[in-house]
Amino acid sequence: MQSTKSHHISIPLIFYLITILHHQVHHSHAQTETQNNNTGYTCSNTNQTNYPCQAYAFYRATSPDFLDLASIGDLFSVSRLMISNPSNISSPSSSLVPDQPLFIPLTCGCNTINNTFGAISYANISYNIKLNDTFFLVSTINYQNLTTFPSVEVVNPSLVPTNLTIGESVIFPIFCKCPEKNNMTQVNNYMISYVVQPSDNISSIASRFGSQEQSIRDVNGNDFQVYDPIFVPVTQLPILSQPSVVPSPPPTTTPTSENSNDDRTGTVRGLAIGLGVTGFLLILVTGLWVYREVLLKDRVWLVRDEEEQKKQNMYMGGKEGKGNKQRDLNLMANVSDCLDKYRVFGIDELLEATDGFDESCLIQGSVYKGEIDGEVYAIKKMKWNAYEELKILQKVNHGNMVKLEGFCIDEEETNCYLVYEYVENGSLYSWLHEDHKENLNWKTRLRIAIDIANGLQYIHEHTRPRVVHKDIKSSNILLDSNMRAKIANFGLAKSGMNAITMHIVGTQGYIAPEYLADGVVSTKMDVFSFGVVLLELVSGKEAIDEKGNLLWVSALKTFEVDDEQEKGRRLKEWLDKEILRETCSMESLMGVLDIGIACLNKEPSKRPSIMDIVYALCKSEYTGFDISYDGIDSPGVIAR
Ligand SMILES: *[C@@H]1O[C@H](CO)[C@@H](O)[C@H](O)[C@H]1NC(C)=O
Ligand SMILES: *[C@@H]1O[C@H](CO)[C@@H](O)[C@H](O)[C@H]1NC(C)=O
Ligand SMILES: *[C@@H]1O[C@H](CO)[C@@H](O)[C@H](O)[C@H]1NC(C)=O
Ligand SMILES: *[C@@H]1O[C@H](CO)[C@@H](O)[C@H](O)[C@H]1NC(C)=O
Ligand SMILES: *[C@@H]1O[C@H](CO)[C@@H](O)[C@H](O)[C@H]1NC(C)=O
Ligand SMILES: *[C@@H]1O[C@H](CO)[C@@H](O)[C@H](O)[C@H]1NC(C)=O
Ligand SMILES: *[C@@H]1O[C@H](CO)[C@@H](O)[C@H](O)[C@H]1NC(C)=O
Ligand SMILES: *[C@@H]1O[C@H](CO)[C@@H](O)[C@H](O)[C@H]1NC(C)=O
Ligand SMILES: *[C@@H]1O[C@H](CO)[C@@H](O)[C@H](O)[C@H]1NC(C)=O
Ligand SMILES: *[C@@H]1O[C@H](CO)[C@@H](O)[C@H](O)[C@H]1NC(C)=O
Repeated sequence: MQSTKSHHISIPLIFYLITILHHQVHHSHAQTETQNNNTGYTCSNTNQTNYPCQAYAFYRATSPDFLDLASIGDLFSVSRLMISNPSNISSPSSSLVPDQPLFIPLTCGCNTINNTFGAISYANISYNIKLNDTFFLVSTINYQNLTTFPSVEVVNPSLVPTNLTIGESVIFPIFCKCPEKNNMTQVNNYMISYVVQPSDNISSIASRFGSQEQSIRDVNGNDFQVYDPIFVPVTQLPILSQPSVVPSPPPTTTPTSENSNDDRTGTVRGLAIGLGVTGFLLILVTGLWVYREVLLKDRVWLVRDEEEQKKQNMYMGGKEGKGNKQRDLNLMANVSDCLDKYRVFGIDELLEATDGFDESCLIQGSVYKGEIDGEVYAIKKMKWNAYEELKILQKVNHGNMVKLEGFCIDEEETNCYLVYEYVENGSLYSWLHEDHKENLNWKTRLRIAIDIANGLQYIHEHTRPRVVHKDIKSSNILLDSNMRAKIANFGLAKSGMNAITMHIVGTQGYIAPEYLADGVVSTKMDVFSFGVVLLELVSGKEAIDEKGNLLWVSALKTFEVDDEQEKGRRLKEWLDKEILRETCSMESLMGVLDIGIACLNKEPSKRPSIMDIVYALCKSEYTGFDISYDGIDSPGVIAR
């Protein structure tokens, strides 16, 4: 169990190391090779051609980065299904073998660069620059010469090729062509963009794609060189024959058998591959070592806070101070302790579950809904900052907290995904301020308030060290099928292990004034935000309105009266009109309002503790439905 998990995390790391080596090798070759200075294929938007059109690029899966449809799909901005369907691949999530043939669908357009340069035909593919990328390397390695660096420069005139910043979006023009609207003789429906390989000749290319030598010559002329892109006209897309046995990643030994049909070069190739395999094993060992180092460092960072609770920690308790080795073992035990609680998802599973993080699966922010093995989850996409949330959620396990089910680390995209239980009924915010507020009666609202308070009490009082959520708001409160509330989104919780202090985060309308002014973090800032949520529950108003007025400010102003009767009168005006439809006691409403107001005290120490709040709310619940005929609990009386 443990080893498979290490496996999960270490493989991308190893691939990363290989990428570095790979890039360096290619980089040193770059100077000696003759570079293809082709800036693109001119085109014209006349009535002879039909731009834009559907076209395909022939692409080969390559080790290490492009051995699955997800990463190749990302490279060309298409889904896995869009590749697997035309490529005769039945299971889009399985991994590929090196050199496995693929058809990538392209939308081929004729794009004018400027008046002097004219127009060239290409598929508009955008790519985000990563460390050490150059136009040349990305064109020749990632896109396998389906474009050239001079052409990349032409279509990105504003970019300085020698000064690229990581994350910058660059258009890589994948060369393509649209067929001419043809004579009767033959109708060519597609042009396949193909890069000539050293072992190719024109007849082998023609037979590979079921095309004619002459029609390839008609389109491309006669003198094309190895690694030149050419366009192969076909009437229909040929069906690729795929290897029937799809091995599991990584391909440590398989490449040998795949390339064995070439006779004379066989032995030389065998030797090269033999060396390659040895190299790979070497890298594997190095990778595992680095992985261990990195993970241990991370872990030290992860457990630093928990040092406070080492007495309670059965893994570390009593084993301190026995030298570094013992300590490392303990830390490893802790890693597995943390990881074992959670399922480690594969990025493929998540991509499949969310349709490649399609917008239709978006719940809110960066949270997607996805179904895996018949179970629905909420999947949150994050950058590396997920460790903080993971660390906190690891300690937090309470019925009023959204439960973390697992996570996924995608080294390649440096993304991290947290997978939560899916809470059916959405956020309190949408219930209060969007569609279905009429279904939220006072009893339900009070129950929700108590649930939130219980959740907060748990993190404030029962975790060591205490956790401050820092972003309590109605959109972070989720309601399950029984309308019980769960606190979600610990993304900001007690942030700043390695962040800049005084980095103010939170949501306008809920942020406690002392935090906004001085960056003071305490459990009392959650109490303040909770007070705002109580006001929302009572009033049905948003924490901040369209004009930017803060609900808590207006509430303090409205209820700044000593006269209880006047206060009651103002409350009736201020109340959510939905509550007026039902029978509930004014006493209960007033009680909750008073708790809310107390939470909003500008002086943190004067705000009630969460324990007091839970007590007071439960009392309100108790009184709320006591049928008392004191004359103020009937709707008729409450109404103005
Ligand atoms: C990027 O390039 C720098 C300097 O050329 C090198 O030190 C570093 O290892 C390279 N990193 C990767 C990931 O290739
Ligand atoms: C590429 O450059 C060479 C000279 O360096 C020139 O002879 C050739 O025509 C150029 N090819 C293209 C496609 O521009
Ligand atoms: C197509 O273009 C030619 C000139 O290039 C023009 O003479 C002809 O009328 C056009 N045909 C149609 C159907 O537009
Ligand atoms: C390419 O796509 C980008 C955004 O995806 C767009 O801004 C740009 O105009 C497109 N260029 C062409 C030539 O279609
Ligand atoms: C792309 O072309 C260059 C030569 O211009 C060659 O060295 C490189 O191997 C080619 N890339 C692929 C993936 O075939
Ligand atoms: C047109 O584009 C080409 C290629 O990017 C560039 O060399 C040339 O200077 C441009 N001309 C004008 C007038 O912008
Ligand atoms: C590189 O680009 C950055 C911003 O993208 C700019 O600040 C810097 O001056 C540029 N450097 C050079 C040498 O052009
Ligand atoms: C299409 O017809 C024109 C003249 O009608 C001819 O010049 C051209 O070669 C033909 N193209 C093909 C692909 O047969
Ligand atoms: C093309 O290559 C194939 C093998 O790939 C070979 O059988 C054939 O004779 C070659 N044809 C020419 C014209 O070189
Ligand atoms: C499609 O791929 C399968 C293997 O996945 C292969 O057996 C079959 O022959 C291929 N179809 C064609 C028409 O080549």
